[in-house]
Amino acid sequence: MTNFDIVPNRRSTNSIKWLRYPKDVLPMWVADMDFPAPAPVLKKLHKAVDHGVMGYDIATPSLKETVAARMDKLYGWKVKPEAVVDVTGIVSGFSVAARIACSPKKGVLLQTPVYNEFHEVKNNLGVPQLEAPFIRQVNGNILSYEIDWDIFEKQVKKAGMFLLCNPHNPLGIIFSRRDLQHMAELCIENNVLIVSDEIHSELLLDGNSFTPLAKLSAEIARHTVTLVAPSKTFNVPGLFCGFAIIPDKELRKRYVEEVARLRLHVNGMGLYAAETAFSGQCDGWLADLRRYLTANRDFLVEYVTGNMPGVRLTNPDATYLGWLDFTQTGIKGSPYQFFLKNAKVALSEGRIFGREGEGHVRLNFGTPRKLLTQGLEKMRKALDRV
Ligand SMILES: Cc1ncc(COP(=O)(O)O)c(C=O)c1O
Repeated sequence: MTNFDIVPNRRSTNSIKWLRYPKDVLPMWVADMDFPAPAPVLKKLHKAVDHGVMGYDIATPSLKETVAARMDKLYGWKVKPEAVVDVTGIVSGFSVAARIACSPKKGVLLQTPVYNEFHEVKNNLGVPQLEAPFIRQVNGNILSYEIDWDIFEKQVKKAGMFLLCNPHNPLGIIFSRRDLQHMAELCIENNVLIVSDEIHSELLLDGNSFTPLAKLSAEIARHTVTLVAPSKTFNVPGLFCGFAIIPDKELRKRYVEEVARLRLHVNGMGLYAAETAFSGQCDGWLADLRRYLTANRDFLVEYVTGNMPGVRLTNPDATYLGWLDFTQTGIKGSPYQFFLKNAKVALSEGRIFGREGEGHVRLNFGTPRKLLTQGLEKMRKALDRV
């Protein structure tokens, strides 16, 4: 069993999570985990360092075969190795796709609230942002979210690209095959490129399973750019390496040309880490991680339910991200500001995920239980004083 209870000293590193706020603030914001990467990945990186020559590297055929083999092993999804394009991360990956598919007349469709970087496509490219907010349901203090098909159908007509987040950040949803099928059909009918950001697809809680959208049919696959990476799952996001899987030859050609135009070159260490992470050698570590994250999720939900009256939250099926609603508490203004000031806990401001995030925060529970407990206790004490 991997011991995820060990608390590392990340203040001695360049960690953005741990250096952004003063020393007395506990960071529970940006989406990386406070755990070392699996031993085989670290061993591979040590080997590369020991070799000593740090020249320019490429994504080798063997790496692309490894990515394709992982899709087959996990989902029975048959992908040709040549369909795999290496990218400098998933944000770069969907930004490239937007450059191909969007224009001032054809916008990017998002399901809000959603990962803050999705909202930057409109700013960076000057294209319209079309929003299809989820319908929210409350059961006791548990929040759940469903697709509003009427809005989705209306908005997809004006889109050039649909940027799907599955599993969803910050809501932790794994979309059903039925929902994926319907979303894909509407996109194809309206000639909209589907970009499926599946970066969280291996961070499954409770033994849940996942289906890549492009696996649903050959026709859907032809209209889809699927983005995967080892970065979230194996906690190597700082190495910036991801993959766009593009089965359609013509679409792939346009995509690769855009990658070349932007001069996006993947870091050599990222390529090494990815090949090892996706090889299967780290799957025991991953099984342990999922158990740990599931227990942390349960602890979070129980703690909030039992100790923070009026607070509502998601019970995520995937990811290490909780979504907490403070609109029914006595907190005035932004709960992010409130907890930063009064609890010395840094969460993610809900508003950056869209206007539905007003009064909400995202909490990262990919951390040793001790830190999660500390953070929640600090938050509870601050809330008790309201
Ligand atoms: C949905 C989603 N996509 C992409 C990223 C970041 O990807 P990258 O660092 O590879 O650009 C994140 C990080 O939180 C994320 O949650």
